[in-house]
Amino acid sequence: MVSLMKVEIKKVAVIGAGVMGHGIAQVFAMNGYEVNLLDISSEILNKAIEKIKWSLSKFVEKRRIKQGDADAALSRIKTMVEYEKAARDVDFIIEAVLENIKLKKEVFSKLDSIAPKHAILASNTSTLSITEMGRATRRPDMVVGMHWFNPPQLMQLIEVIKGDDTRDDVIDTTIKLSEKLGKTPILCKKDVRGFIVNRVLANVFNDAFWAYYRSETSKEGIDSSIKYTGGFPMGLFELADFVGLDILYEVGKSLYEAYGERVKPCSELVEPLIKERKLGQKAGVGFYDWTKGRPRLPLDLADEYDVNRSWAVSVNEAAWLIYEDVAEPKDIDTGMKLGTGWPSGPCEYADRKGLDYELNKLRELYRRYGMEMYKPCPLLEEYVKKGWVGRKAKRGFYSYG
Ligand code: 3HC
Repeated sequence: MVSLMKVEIKKVAVIGAGVMGHGIAQVFAMNGYEVNLLDISSEILNKAIEKIKWSLSKFVEKRRIKQGDADAALSRIKTMVEYEKAARDVDFIIEAVLENIKLKKEVFSKLDSIAPKHAILASNTSTLSITEMGRATRRPDMVVGMHWFNPPQLMQLIEVIKGDDTRDDVIDTTIKLSEKLGKTPILCKKDVRGFIVNRVLANVFNDAFWAYYRSETSKEGIDSSIKYTGGFPMGLFELADFVGLDILYEVGKSLYEAYGERVKPCSELVEPLIKERKLGQKAGVGFYDWTKGRPRLPLDLADEYDVNRSWAVSVNEAAWLIYEDVAEPKDIDTGMKLGTGWPSGPCEYADRKGLDYELNKLRELYRRYGMEMYKPCPLLEEYVKKGWVGRKAKRGFYSYG
C-alpha cells in the first residue's frame, strides 16, 4: 500500500478541457500547481486556453489577482494530446471527460497503467459510480470523486465522494487539496447517484419542468419568480442551459435509473432540444437564445410561480439524503449555498419556515399531481410527528440550544 503521508501534490493532470476541465485546470494553476491539460485535439485545447485567458483577465480586471499572477498561472498549464505524456509524472489526476461510464472506465484504466503508483485518480463526474471507475483500475482504493461546480473558477464548493473501496487517507488528501485550492469541500459519505447537490437540484428542476410541460406557467415566469422572489442567482431554465442540457439529461437518466419514479425527469421537454443540438449556453441556444448573453428575465412575472414548491421538493430530497446517511444537514446546506449560490440551504430554510409547513406543502402537491417526487420522506414525517418542526420548537434538522 502506498503511503500518502510523505507525498506532496505539486503536479496534476486534468483529463478533458471542456466546460469543467478548463476551469479546473485554471484553478489548480492559480494556486501554484503545475498542470498537464489533456484533450483529444489541439483545437479543443486552444479554445480552452482562450477561455482561461478570458477568465484570468476578468480576475485581473476585478483586482482579485495581479497581471503577473495571471501570467504565472497561464505558464503553469501545458496542453497535450498524449496520455503517456500527461499522466506519467504527476501526483494527482482529475478526469472531466464526457458523462459516459464506458468511456470513463477506459480513461481510468489507461491512466492507471501510466500514472505513478502514489498518484490519486479522481473523477469530476456529476453522478456516475466512483466505485465502478475505481474497479477499472488496479488501485480502486486510490480512486475518489472530486466534483466541481460550474463555473469552477467562481463556485466555492467541491464534493468529495467516497467510493466503496476508497481509502480514508485518499479522502483526507482530497479534502485537504480542495482547501488548498481555496474551496470548501463537503463529504458525500456514500457513492450514490447524484451525490448531494445534484440530487437536491434534480427534483427542483423536475417540479418546474413538469409544471411548464403541463402549460401551468411560462418558463420566463418560473425563472423570474425563482430569481427575483426566491433570491436564487439564476432561473431554473437559465441554469439548465448554463449547465448544458446534455449534462442535465445524463444526470436525469442516471437518477431515474437509481431512484425510479421519485426522480422522474421531464424528458419530453429536454429530449427534443438535445436532438436539435440546442444544448444551452455552449451551443448558443437551448431553452433561451444565448447569442447576446444571459437571458433577460421579466421582473413583472416574479409572482407567476410558487417558489415554495421548489423549497418543498429540495427539503424533501435533503431529508432523503439524511435518512439514507449520505450527508449531514450542514454539508447539504453548504453544498447548495456554495455549489449553486442558493440564498439558504434547504435544511436551515425548513427550520426557519417550519418542517410542518414543508410537509403540508408536499402533501398538497402530492394530492394535486400524484407524483412520487412530492411524497414526503419518512424522516420528514417522523420529525414532524415528534414535534421537531424547526427553530420554533428548538429542534428540526438542527438543534437550537
Ligand atoms: N471566470 C471569471 N469571471 C467570470 C466567469 C469565469 N469563469 N464567469 C463569469 N464571470 C464574471 C462575469 O463576466 C461577470 O463579470 P462582469 O461583472 O465584469 O460582467 C461576473 O463574473 C458576474 O457574472 P454575472 O454578471 O453573469 O452574474 P452573477 O452575479 O449571477 O454571477 C454566477 C454568475 C456566479 C455564475 C451566478 O449566476 C451563480 O452562482 N449561478 C448559479 C450557478 C450554479 O448553480 N452552478 C452549479 C450548477 S450544477 C453543477 O455545475 C454540477 C454539475 O454536475 C451539473
